Order: sequence, then C-alpha cells, then structure tokens
Amino acid sequence: MEKKKFYITTPIYYPSDKLHIGHTYCTVATDAMARYKRLTGHDVMFLTGTDEHGQKIENKAKEAGVTPQQFVDNIVEGEGGILDLWKLMNISNDRFIRTTDDYHVASVQKIFKKMYDKGDIYKGAYKGKYCTPCESFWTESQLKDGCCPDCGRSVVDAEEEAYFFKLSKYADRVQSLLEDTDFLQPRSRVNEMVNNFIKPGLEDLCVSRTSFTWGVPVDFDPGHVVYVWVDALFNYCTALGFLNDKYDDYDHYWPADYHFVGKEIVRFHSIIWPAMLMSMEEPLPKHVFGHGWLLLDGGKMSKSKGNVVDPYILAEKFGVDALRFFLMRTFPFGSDGNFSNELLIQTINTDLANDLGNLVSRTTAMAGKYFDGTLPAGCKTCAAPEAVDADLIAMVSALRDQYEKDMESCAPHTALNDVFKVIQRANKYIDETAPWALAKDMDANGERLAHVLYNLLETTRICGILLTPFMPESMEKLFVQIGACEACRDWASANQWGRLCETVTTTKGENLFPRIDMEKAIAELEAAAEAARKATLPAIETEPLATENVDFDTFCKSDFRAVKVKACENVKKSDKLLKFTLDDGTGTDRQILSGIAKWYKPEDLVGKTLVAIVNLPPRKMMGQESCGMLISAVHTEKGEEKLNLLMVDDAIPAGAKLC
Ligand code: MSP
Repeated sequence: MEKKKFYITTPIYYPSDKLHIGHTYCTVATDAMARYKRLTGHDVMFLTGTDEHGQKIENKAKEAGVTPQQFVDNIVEGEGGILDLWKLMNISNDRFIRTTDDYHVASVQKIFKKMYDKGDIYKGAYKGKYCTPCESFWTESQLKDGCCPDCGRSVVDAEEEAYFFKLSKYADRVQSLLEDTDFLQPRSRVNEMVNNFIKPGLEDLCVSRTSFTWGVPVDFDPGHVVYVWVDALFNYCTALGFLNDKYDDYDHYWPADYHFVGKEIVRFHSIIWPAMLMSMEEPLPKHVFGHGWLLLDGGKMSKSKGNVVDPYILAEKFGVDALRFFLMRTFPFGSDGNFSNELLIQTINTDLANDLGNLVSRTTAMAGKYFDGTLPAGCKTCAAPEAVDADLIAMVSALRDQYEKDMESCAPHTALNDVFKVIQRANKYIDETAPWALAKDMDANGERLAHVLYNLLETTRICGILLTPFMPESMEKLFVQIGACEACRDWASANQWGRLCETVTTTKGENLFPRIDMEKAIAELEAAAEAARKATLPAIETEPLATENVDFDTFCKSDFRAVKVKACENVKKSDKLLKFTLDDGTGTDRQILSGIAKWYKPEDLVGKTLVAIVNLPPRKMMGQESCGMLISAVHTEKGEEKLNLLMVDDAIPAGAKLC
C-alpha cells in the first residue's frame, strides 16, 4: 500500500546570532512530530533551513567587517553553528534550505514576476513605520506605545518607491479560511488574527525595498529587492522544486500538512502566506500551528537583552535526549512556558531518573537476579492472574490510541503525560506484586514471578516505542536492555500486548538517566553561563581618551621619576595593598603603597625600575604613609580588569626625571 505523505516544516531561522533554547524548542517539536509520523508509517518530508536576507543581516555583517554571505555562512555552517546544533540535537530533517541558495533566489524572482504580471503586485510609494530588527512594516494603528508591537523597539519613518502586494483583495477569503476551517491552530489564535489584523482592514503589503541590497533582486526593476518575508515564506515550496529544477517533489508533498511556527510569526503564516498562495493559484497548506514561547524570568529570550539560554551547554551537561524530553514534556505546546534550570533538573530527576529509569533498572535487575536474564517459557500467562495484572494490562493496551489522539491534535505534552501515567502505574505494580518476596520461594512462586516481570518488560517496551520520537537514542538502548527485538519495536506492536517474546533475554546496561545533583549542577551551569557571557565581551577594552585638556604648566608640575624597588611586601590585613621601599635617587628611601596585590607577588618586583609621581601630598593607607604613586597601565580583557606596572629599562638610574 502506498504510504500517506506528511509534509512538515519549522520556520526558517535568521542566522543573525547563535540560536538559543527557544529556537531549539520549535525544531525539537517539529522533529518529534516528524518522527512520530514516520513511526506511524507515513512518507515524511521534514524541512528546516535558514532565512538569510534582509537589512538586519546586512547591518550585522557590516558591523562584523565581513560580507553578508560570509556572515551567514559562518552562523549556518561554521563551528557551533545552526547545522551543528541540529546535528547535536538529533534533528531528522530530510531537507535544509538556505534562502541564499541559487535555486531559491531564481524561483522567488519568478514568483514575484508572476504576481506582478497578474496585477497582484503593483508599484507605489511606501510611507510608514518600519522596525528594522523585525524587518516589519507597521501602520500607525498597529504600533504599541509608538513602538513595534512584536519586539517593543522603536520604529523609524520610511518613505520610498516600492512594490505592493494586494493583500486587501484576499481579506475575505483569508478570513473565512481562518474562521471556517481548522487551518490555524490552536483555535485561540484565530480571534487574535481576525480581530487585530483582518477586521480593522487589511492594507496592501509593501513587498520590495530600495534602501539596502542584501535580498533577492527584483529582476525586472534593478534597485529593488524582494521583501524578506515574501522571499522567506516561499521557501516551503521552492525547497520541493517549485519553479526550479533542483528538486522535483513539489507535486508529491505540497500542500504542507503542518507549518509549526512561533506565535509572533502566526500573522505572516496565517494571513500573508495564504493570500500569496491564493494569488499564485497554488493549494494552501493544511495547517499552521502557532506554538508559545519559552520565557526566561517571564520575558522573551533575546540576544539583545542578554537573557538567552544556550542549548549546547544544556545538552552537553544533561544529554540530548533528556533536553529534548524536557522541552516537550514540560510546556503545553500552544502556550508560553517559563524556562528554568531548576525545572529542567527536576523533570529529569522525577520523570527520567526516578520513574522511567527505575522501572527499567529494577525490572532488568530482577530478571537478571532471579532468571539469569532469560524469562522461562509460559511466562506470558499466569495460572492465577490478579486484579493488578488486569489493571496494568488494560491501561497499557489503551495507551497507544490515546497517545495517537494527543499527537494528532499537536499535544505532545499530553501524549507524554499519558505515557508517564502508565510508567508510574508500572512502578506501583512492582510495589504491589513485591517480586522480591515472591523470589523467596521460587518453587511455589517462580511462575508468578516470571509473569510479573514479563508484564513489566512488556509495559516498558510499549512505553519505549511511544517515547522514541522524543528520545530516539535512549530508547534504542532501552530496547537492548529489555531484549525487545526489531519486530516488536514498531507502531503496530505498540497496540499489541504480548508481542514481546516469552523467552526474552534482558541485558544489564548503563543507567539510562542518572540522577542529577541539583545544587552542584546549578552552580556549574551558572559558572558556564558566566564564562559564555565573558566570551562574548570584547577582547580588549580601554578607557576613552580624556576630552578635557590640561594646560601645559599644570602638567609640568607633575614630577615623574624612575624609582628602583629595594623591598616590597604585602600590607598586613589588606589583600589589596603592597608596600614598596624605593630608591628615588635622593639617598633617602621613599615608601609608596599601591593597591596592586591582585596582580603582583612582592618578590617578583624587587630590583625592578618603575615610574612614580613623587610630588603628591603624602597620604595614610591602613595606618601607613604613602609618599607618591606608582604608574601603571590599566585595561579590561573579556570583562576582567588588568593592570601592568610601568617598568622601564634598568639602565635608567634611580631618580632620573621623566619629561
Ligand atoms: N526567519 C523568520 C521565520 C521565517 S519562516 C518563513 C523567523 N526566524 S527566527 O529565527 O527569529 O525565529 C524562528 C522561530 O523560533 C520562530 O518560530 C520563533 O517563534 C521561534 N522562537 C524564537 N524564540 C523563541 C522562544 N523563546 N520560544 C519559542 N520559540 C521561539 O522568525
């Protein structure tokens, strides 16, 4: 039988900065859905990629002193870049599109021309408000307190010759698409779109720019580049070969079954995108799902606010699967959720180490201890089944269908909740059946004990199948430990109690999800975040030059002399001060105290020739007199203050005047 196709996409990401845990959330959710659909026998196309044009990228490249192409290449393909992150997170995308790919650029030019020839794109003058970081045009009425309603930053007045797309022409059709079908999910997003954007009147959309060049050129009007959102949205079609020869599966996979997108870009996907497809006379995607945001301390993560969470650090510390699981288990997919390290560790400890980890390790350990790892034939059945057996088996047998309903309605968090209810039930079953007590009299209870362990392994197998889209690598290991062969890891078998072979052999393997010491891990994460923050600081920073002039005569009054260090020691009870005994050429020792103990050991300075200003009035520090000041150079390196004493050639005699 021909497989049913399923085409799912993530948004294509802006390679303007390194991606954070919020972006990872969106991609992991799409990956879990794609894996689930493959598991259920679909012919899946999973697309992700990068949205590389626009003024923001052009500006960032300029700041970095590289070309826009070099800039995006580094963030997409460079070490620790987007491709590396998706590899690390075990993202199973079938295709990756970059909007700077030649085939995409050529297709976008054809698309723009087609809408122009049809009369849906026309030339006019753009006058309005523009948010540069979001690449978004706004009308006065859409602004929030005069600022961009998406990011809250200030907008600028913009006026220039531009092309417009007749969005208004499609307003009624888009409204009925939103209101009369299940195109936009969750349903709560429909009112927001209709009331905030369509009912106030859809204005035509400015779809070209002339004030920068980093975009797809409008080939029939040099100087214009295509608005980045038009270029970006069509990636979903061009990546399948729409109006290009690079791929040839547009007819097979289009229309998309699901576009998963964050809530702030629902407007583009549920209003502008269908309107442009209507103009192109192409089929519309079946669904757009607008998921919520991962928040940090109640606010949106953003690089500019400096409050991003690095997925690399978390994956390295806790494991990729644990991180994937946490993201999907904790936050209801359509709502916002507050990320915290504590919540992450708590979820890993409770669900994975305690519930799932314990179920697997206790069950395999008992199978090993009581049956040398291989259960006896006949263990599927039991001469005297108990009510707890029937209860567990009924719950597990209903699990796959319930899970399917949850996944089909894009509620992965509910699907996982259902699986974990069963895992908790199975742990309770261990306590209720007390296999260790049964094992005390193997002659009398051996058969019963084998049946109990079979039930536990079978429960674990079915849960393992359903957890595979979320934790693919760990579930492979789990199947090996519980002895589940390839034939009993598939979707059909998840609904068939008793598929696990009776004489199954378990293997004691590594602890799949070790318990995490919360306090220690939090301290390490904070240190890692601090180190990462420091790494983004400028390598060297020096104080700006003084703007106020000092007159020459005043300057000449300062008496700078070469001085030789005769002795140097730490000042008692001070961790800052060093006490110097200096030869200043006068024949009388000079004492100077200097707050440089953090940078120098006293013994390293003896014999050195330094520079001091010697006509400052004496002052007391920690009860000791300091007659002058040693001159040093200060700067900041990666946020850390550095100090170097000014040392001069030892050939310069003590007391020589510096002028
Ligand atoms: N380039 C556009 C998408 C074009 S699609 C034709 C874009 N890129 S983005 O890199 O800024 O965002 C990509 C996705 O990441 C969006 O769906 C966005 O909602 C999601 N997220 C970014 N930060 C997020 C959180 N803190 N939480 C959840 N998702 C977040 O928009």
